[in-house]
Formats: sequence, C-alpha cells, structure tokens
Amino acid sequence: MIDENAGLGWALIGCGGAGRSHALGAVETNGVGVRAFYDTDPERAAFFATEFGTRTAGLDEIFADPAIDIVSIATPHDTHARLALDAFAAGKHVYLEKPMAMTTAECVQIAEAQRSSGKQLMLNFSFRFSGAVREAKRRLGPPIASHAQCMQARSDLTAWRWDPVSGGGPLWDVGIHAADLLCWFHGAAPVEVSATGGQKSHPAELAGTDILDTVAATFRFADGSVSTFLISDADFNGFASKWLFEIYGSGESAVLYEHAKTVAFGVPGDKTSVETLSPPSADRFPFLLDAIKNGGESYAPASSGIVATAVVEAIIASVKSGQTQTLELPPGLAD
Ligand SMILES: NC(=O)c1ccc[n+]([C@@H]2O[C@H](COP(=O)([O-])OP(=O)(O)OC[C@H]3O[C@@H](n4cnc5c(N)ncnc54)[C@H](O)[C@@H]3O)[C@@H](O)[C@H]2O)c1
Repeated sequence: MIDENAGLGWALIGCGGAGRSHALGAVETNGVGVRAFYDTDPERAAFFATEFGTRTAGLDEIFADPAIDIVSIATPHDTHARLALDAFAAGKHVYLEKPMAMTTAECVQIAEAQRSSGKQLMLNFSFRFSGAVREAKRRLGPPIASHAQCMQARSDLTAWRWDPVSGGGPLWDVGIHAADLLCWFHGAAPVEVSATGGQKSHPAELAGTDILDTVAATFRFADGSVSTFLISDADFNGFASKWLFEIYGSGESAVLYEHAKTVAFGVPGDKTSVETLSPPSADRFPFLLDAIKNGGESYAPASSGIVATAVVEAIIASVKSGQTQTLELPPGLAD
C-alpha cells in the first residue's frame, strides 16, 4: 500500500544492486514515502515493487507525478546525465549515483539544470557517509599528504562496468570514489594530475579499447599538499582490504581500512601506538532531506561530482599523453 501521508514521495530509477541500497535507505527514513520503481527490465522493477510494497511506473509517469518529490538514479554510468537532466526538468530532487556523469561537460549541464530547477542534488559518494571517514576528516583537517587505493580481485569483464560506453571501466567505477575522497579531504581539487598505467590485468580482453585496468597517479594541490592514487584488479590483499586510504595531517594521521569502516589514528609523539575506531556509518537520506528542508548545499553536491569527473578525465589524459595535466575546471569551481 502506498502511504500518501509519508512525507516526501520517492521513486527509484534502476533496480539493481545500488538501487536496492537506495530503496532500503528510503524505507528506513521517516519523512520519505516509497512511491514507484522503474527499470528498463520490467521484471526487476516488479520485483522491487513487490518487495517494497508499492507500484512500478514508467519514466514519464514518475516525472509527471506530483506525489513524487525525489528520484534516485542508480543506473549504468552513461545514462546518468540524460536521466538527471530529465528529472530536474520535471522539478524533482535527485539522489544520483556516482559518477555524476562521464564527462565534465555533462556534469556542468546537470549542475546548470539543477540550479534552474531550484531542486537539490546529492551524489552517492558513499565513503563520505562512513563513520570512520567522517571522524578522520573531523579530527585531521586538510592533510599534508594522502593516499587512496582500490585493489580488487580479477574482475568479470562481461559486467557493464567494463563496457567502454556504459561503464568505462574501473576509473569510472571505483577511481571516481578515490578521486572524490582525496579532494574532499584536501578541501579542494588538485591543480596538477600526473598518471601512468595501462591494460596490465586484462591485456588480451581489453585490447582495442581505451579502458585502463591499472593506474597510478599523483595529485598536487594549490597549498602544496600531495596525494597518491592506485587502482587495479591485479589482486586483493586481505590485510589492506579492497579500499585503503591514508591521511597525514600536521598533527595526526589516519589509516582507513576494512572498506573504510575502521580508522586507525596514529598517536602524535608515540610511534608505536594507534587508536582504532569503527564508528557507525551515517544514514544517507537524512542528509538529502536536510538539504531539501533547510536549503544550502547538499553533503555531496554538484560541484563535487564535477571535480571528481574532471580528475578522472585528467588521469586518463595524463596516461594517454604521458604529460602532467593542469586541471581545467569550469568557472566558479577553480580556486
Ligand atoms: N555508491 C556506491 O558505493 C555504489 C556501489 C555500487 C554501484 N554504484 C553505482 O550505482 C549505479 C548502478 O550500479 P549497480 O551496481 O546497481 O548496477 P546493476 O547492474 O546492479 O543495476 C543497474 C540497473 O539499472 C537498470 N538500467 C539500465 N539502464 C537503465 C535505464 N536507462 N533506465 C532505467 N534502468 C536502467 C538495469 O536493468 C539494472 O537493473 C552505477 O552508477 C554504479 O557505479 C555505486
């Protein structure tokens, strides 16, 4: 049954793995009413509608429905821009999966559509919601040096993530998270990006495509702070975990591991001690509701999506050219 009195109406576009976590977040959030599910695969939408006790609807129906205030978009990467633009044109708030889009130009278009609509956009840069990450950011302030890595087990290349058009490979899938988190910690976009890499894990399968399976990069920020970045599906090591972030501030340092669920703070002046914490992650919908109700910038706004996409584009350009890239940001985002 649809509860029409449940506050802001919400609908999901894209009923896959990420869509499920959006739906679970929506049903658990007071003030959000689950209204409709859409997927290009009708069976998937029907499955979600049954599970979460509401209906399936067409895209046009969702956009035209005044009882739907928020749409989540959790679809393959190449569809984000069109769907987000249509959602803002229909006057909806948007909770959009990463990457915001696969070109900076499309991200800027989305940001302009959002501005014209007066609606909110929150990107699902999910590490920002990790309790351990939030605690590290709160305690350290902007770092002097940082490192982000995603090392995974060999991938199934038949998944759409590895398709050059719909997914773009690991830089757009996981590298975008690392780019966002480094910029978020440093409080800025890098001014320079240098990168190297190639098709090292899957040379035969990826031949003839532009997809990079292994990339190492360095970032330089305007304040002189630096980051390193490493992604590959060469292998996974359980000690470091798939994701590993290291943040070194002027007083404290933090290592984030166990999918960034746990943080180990170095104790200043004591080289042998660490303080380990695993604070709970923050629920994501309340951040979006707060931005909708109280105005102001969302917790993961359009600007962060533009910056992360610009950084990934710069990494790709640097790998291809062998040259350090000066980050080109749209007016208003450059420091
Ligand atoms: N933030 C995170 O931590 C996180 C984690 C996983 C995935 N994601 C992101 O979520 C998005 C979806 O990934 P996933 O793992 O759920 O993929 P998935 O393949 O499990 O699900 C995608 C769904 O979208 C549907 N779909 C495809 N094109 C569509 C369209 N044009 N309109 C409506 N539905 C369409 C597919 O049928 C499928 O059901 C991607 O952007 C991915 O990067 C984010």
